[in-house]
Amino acid sequence: MIPRLTLPALCLLLALPTLASADEEDTAELYQFNCTSCHGAEVYTRTDRKVNSLDALERQVRRCELALGLKWFDEEIASMANYLNTHYYKFTP
Ligand code: HEC
Repeated sequence: MIPRLTLPALCLLLALPTLASADEEDTAELYQFNCTSCHGAEVYTRTDRKVNSLDALERQVRRCELALGLKWFDEEIASMANYLNTHYYKFTP
């Protein structure tokens, strides 16, 4: 049995990646929806992590985003880098 609300909720989620928004809550949803299938947050906090600056973080977000074929705007890449920085990397700009 599929609950009746599942379909509209799914459509909303699928529409999200095409919306350009710098909002923290939206970024968190974009993250949950697109960025948790290959790796979890452990790659951001491991001792031998690859990213060592905010710039490198943006480049890596772009790389993963391109690999996924999401076609995000620069603004969304920046929001996602900021989101990961706030929650995990904590680089000072
Ligand atoms: C198709 C699989 C895949 C998806 C989905 C994916 N990534 Fe990645 N990501 C990778 C791989 C592979 C690495 C490199 C992991 C390693 O070196 O062990 C990586 C590494 C990273 C790193 C660097 C971690 C470090 O070492 O500091 C960041 C940041 C990152 N991804 C962000 C994202 C974001 C943001 C998204 C969502 C847009 C995302 N990833 C979605 C495959 C993916």
